[in-house]
Amino acid sequence: MKIAITCNIRSDESEKFMEWDEYETIEAIEKGYINLGHTVQIIDCYKSDIENEIKKFKPDIVFNIAEGLSGEKRESIVPELLDKLNVPYTGSGPKTLINALNKAKTHKLLDKFNVPNPRYYESKKPLKKLPENFLYPVIIKPLFEGSSKGIWDKSVVHNDKDLFTVSESLISKFNEQPIIIEEFLTGREFTVAVIGNEDLTILPVVEINFSELPKTANPIYSFEAKWIWDTKEKPLDIFTCPAKLNAELKHEIETVIKNAFKALSCRDWARIDLRLNSLGKVNVLELNPLPGIIPDPKANSCFPKAARAAGYNYEKMLDLILKTSLQNKYNTEKMKKKAKKNN
Ligand SMILES: Nc1ncnc2c1ncn2[C@@H]1O[C@H](COP(=O)(O)OP(=O)(O)O)[C@@H](O)[C@H]1O
Ligand SMILES: [Mg+2]
Repeated sequence: MKIAITCNIRSDESEKFMEWDEYETIEAIEKGYINLGHTVQIIDCYKSDIENEIKKFKPDIVFNIAEGLSGEKRESIVPELLDKLNVPYTGSGPKTLINALNKAKTHKLLDKFNVPNPRYYESKKPLKKLPENFLYPVIIKPLFEGSSKGIWDKSVVHNDKDLFTVSESLISKFNEQPIIIEEFLTGREFTVAVIGNEDLTILPVVEINFSELPKTANPIYSFEAKWIWDTKEKPLDIFTCPAKLNAELKHEIETVIKNAFKALSCRDWARIDLRLNSLGKVNVLELNPLPGIIPDPKANSCFPKAARAAGYNYEKMLDLILKTSLQNKYNTEKMKKKAKKNN
């Protein structure tokens, strides 16, 4: 099978490109699919004319992990183009990618499908006091960033003064991008990798160990925790997989995951962040329909970590995503259309 990998490759360590993949990751995906017997071409979406490359290579399917550069539609650009070209691809469609990136849109869909999520409020302006029905502490985040960008240790605020200072600095740092404030959930945090469509395989749950963070830090997976305190040379032992869960909590997590995946119409694979509220109830923080998959087991990359805990090495994980994707109704429809055209 001919597989194109659409991706964005990080060329330097600046924050602008933080969400992009390192070349080692793309190379590991390429190697993985070659070992599985496929012909592979990498398409670096920042450097190439994607449409032209696709038309020349004529892939049977695209393994898409392109994050895009800016704006809230950045992740949807490649799938939108592939839909236009009637080319099958792995992962979610453009609408899901927009809804999952925009945290307020995610909340609205979760509410619509009765999936528990923290109370939230979107604002274009810095806030001087809490909106109605909120109590401190709250967390303030940019509306459509990822990889903990703009989620600093100081983003958990306890008073009006910090609410204003943090919201003002976020809005100015992210070029007037709106902010979202959320009720701060104080319980255990998990992230859960899933593969599937109608039938979801839920991989072993990963728990975030906040006890690994510096003593004075807030219990959040902040920018500092992800990018400063956790380094390749000195990795933080921040994830436990499989998490210790009693049967009741495991069941509740699985139900919430299935409902959240459905609420956002995700396809093929995703990683979903969860946190317990003060009553121990599972809430969804966000969905990542383009999860990071760093191959090095020493790196803290949750999707491959969960896959390994389930007995799938990197190659097997890639194979499972591909096979799942080849069977989803959007791709089978495209393949039928293509076959008809060729007849
Ligand atoms: N409402 C919340 N309550 C408690 N912690 C939160 C909340 N929202 C975010 N966090 C913390 O901040 C981290 C990053 O937030 P998240 O919404 O997942 O953004 P990102 O897209 O950057 O991953 C989470 O992993 C969690 O530790
Ligand atoms: Mg997250």
